[in-house]
Amino acid sequence: MPLKQLVLIVAAVLFAKVLLLRWFWRHEISAAMERDPAARSTWEVLFLYPSVMAIGFYRIAHPLHQLNWPGFRFIARWMSQYARGWTGIEIHPGAVIGKGLFIDHGMGVVIGETAIIGENVTLFQGVTLGGTGKEKGKRHPTLGNNVVVGAGAKVLGSFTIGNNSQIGANAVVVQEVPPDSVVVGVPGKIVRQNGKRVTD
Ligand SMILES: CC(C)(COP(=O)(O)OP(=O)(O)OC[C@H]1O[C@@H](n2cnc3c(N)ncnc32)[C@H](O)[C@@H]1OP(=O)(O)O)[C@@H](O)C(=O)NCCC(=O)NCCS
Repeated sequence: MPLKQLVLIVAAVLFAKVLLLRWFWRHEISAAMERDPAARSTWEVLFLYPSVMAIGFYRIAHPLHQLNWPGFRFIARWMSQYARGWTGIEIHPGAVIGKGLFIDHGMGVVIGETAIIGENVTLFQGVTLGGTGKEKGKRHPTLGNNVVVGAGAKVLGSFTIGNNSQIGANAVVVQEVPPDSVVVGVPGKIVRQNGKRVTD
């Protein structure tokens, strides 16, 4: 290969890396800095936070998965499983994830193939965005913007969790949640909506 072509390829790869890192800095790393009081520096977040690694791999795997070319879906799944091995966070490359996702601690998080996640969402360790096993096609939840899902919570099914809602730690949510709600318990019940306490 002529030297000129080689230099061009290396320059293109470096440029792509810089763009990816810039995206990361603006959205993923700043999400961790804003939402984790324990985060002391961007370098710490970049090198030590499992969320950044898992989402980084996802950001490369997702477009490969969407191309649907022979072998690409396999590579995308491989990347997802590789990141899972290091972080304990399994993000299916088919999931659609908006900017600013932060997965605090991370271990045991599962994000299913047809899950859709809005912007600035926070998930804690042990969260499952999964299916019930009864649905086909779109079978995982859709999370609106600014949703928080507490540690160990399971959100199961193809319904929507509305913008700005909070799911309590260890809740099991199996039905639609309107925006601005707080849901706790098994099965999940709304205990607060638009800042007001909700009673049965
Ligand atoms: C659900 C949550 C967001 C509620 O926050 P909030 O809006 O401040 O609501 P409150 O604390 O006033 O709680 C409202 C009611 O839900 C109950 N509740 C709160 N969290 C609960 C939970 N995880 N499971 C069961 N009940 C819960 C409270 O006891 C209270 O009940 P009461 O009205 O009978 O007194 C919060 O408690 C939570 O679980 N956050 C997840 C945080 C997390 O996972 N951290 C992990 C760090 S590693």
